[in-house]
Amino acid sequence: MSALPKIVHKGLPPGPKGTLIGGNLSQIGPRRVDFFLDLAQTYGPVASFRTSRWRLFLVSDPQLIQQVLVTDARSYIKHFGARTFKPVLGNGLVTSEGDFWLAQRRLLQPAFLKAQVQSYAPIMADLTEAMLAKWVPGKSVDIAFEFSSLTSAIALKTLFGLDDHGERERVDTSLRLVFELLTDRLDAPIQLPISFPTPANLKLRRALNDLFALVDSFIAEKKTRPLGNDLLSTMIQAQHEDGTGMSAQQLRDEAMTLYLAGHETTALALTWSWYLLSQNPDAEGRLVEEWRRVLNGRSAKAPDLSALPYTSAVINESMRLYPPVYVIGREATTDLELGGYLVKRGYTVLMSQWVSHRDPRYFPEPERFLPERWLDGLATRLPKFAYYPFGGGQRICIGVHFALMEAAIVLATVGQKYLFTLDPDAKIDIMPQITMPPKYGMPATLAQR
Ligand code: HEM
Repeated sequence: MSALPKIVHKGLPPGPKGTLIGGNLSQIGPRRVDFFLDLAQTYGPVASFRTSRWRLFLVSDPQLIQQVLVTDARSYIKHFGARTFKPVLGNGLVTSEGDFWLAQRRLLQPAFLKAQVQSYAPIMADLTEAMLAKWVPGKSVDIAFEFSSLTSAIALKTLFGLDDHGERERVDTSLRLVFELLTDRLDAPIQLPISFPTPANLKLRRALNDLFALVDSFIAEKKTRPLGNDLLSTMIQAQHEDGTGMSAQQLRDEAMTLYLAGHETTALALTWSWYLLSQNPDAEGRLVEEWRRVLNGRSAKAPDLSALPYTSAVINESMRLYPPVYVIGREATTDLELGGYLVKRGYTVLMSQWVSHRDPRYFPEPERFLPERWLDGLATRLPKFAYYPFGGGQRICIGVHFALMEAAIVLATVGQKYLFTLDPDAKIDIMPQITMPPKYGMPATLAQR
């Protein structure tokens, strides 16, 4: 009997012809989600392509995605895209693997349970109010920048208990530089080790050292004061089953990871929600009516969220059309079967939320923004991996409750006071990188409601 009995197809899954050296690289282009969607629509639920270094499968059937993320999860690790960010995320939750990851996940999980996360709701509402206090009606703003600053402030306060605006700017400036340099590395045809003294590597190492020094100083300072309710305090106190705690290095890796994974993603969910609302006045009207009825002008609190179904539907629908994380990937650590094909050890399997969330079998009129589709229990009827903005299986986002609560509180608090009018000549496009920001920002004028 063969070790892999379900392999019924010889060779690779279907896919576009590529060139000998670059493979399909030149066809992918900057809007890589278009390439993914075209691949799935042309070649079906298991398609294959190649970039210069990697053989990739794109799977777009919910059952196959479940097989990768749940059933066969132990035979995969995170793919090269995630590993590129190891220099900054170290051995934090996003990039670690195996028993080490599991022990850390168990240690951090309690801090992200719904009840614990609800204690951050007042911080989220207060920092949103503080942002609104600085806004002026008639002013032109970049919504993407405003929400990114807000979620960054919320992350630093809930993570480190940190209020200081100057320190936040220092963290964000170093981070932006580190990310630019790491993204260049990901796109480069040859990746030399970071220890190799090329001009780009030297710049990267300097930026990383600055960033680490800053984060280490937050941690050192925290240890000199009484611990609080912030996530870092929880991490400092957390103990593994054998009674040991996290090393200084591990604390830094987890803090960097939570800050990075936790703020830009939620900012994008908010930014794209406002964009979609600006294009769909009926949905916006219904949302404002819900807030007037339930909140009547005050900021949202954690217990209000269950009484705001349309707000949740808007957030769900916005993450369907503009998933902040639009692709996740795994690398096979052994030969195994998927959709009747052989996935060889070292191959990468991609799963794209952008593609899956546009499947007309589950989302009729997929390109239309229809929050109503979520109101009659759609989420419970869908196959498990038809909609997965937070991933799934054992590596599902640890911040799901945090993000959903933050998005709803910010949306309701801002939306009751302000209305955005997109600048008439604004060019709106996506820029798929690790997440998916608007390529030219989101310029809009503020009007008081
Ligand atoms: C709308 C907001 C967010 C979205 C769309 C999102 C999406 C995701 C996705 C898709 C994954 C899985 C990646 C994979 O399987 O390869 C993930 C993992 C993760 N996310 Fe989020 N996330 C969001 C907010 C947050 C927040 C607020 C935090 C923390 C405060 C957070 C922390 C993490 C961490 C630590 C992981 C790795 C978990 C593990 O592997 O154990 N995320 N996120």
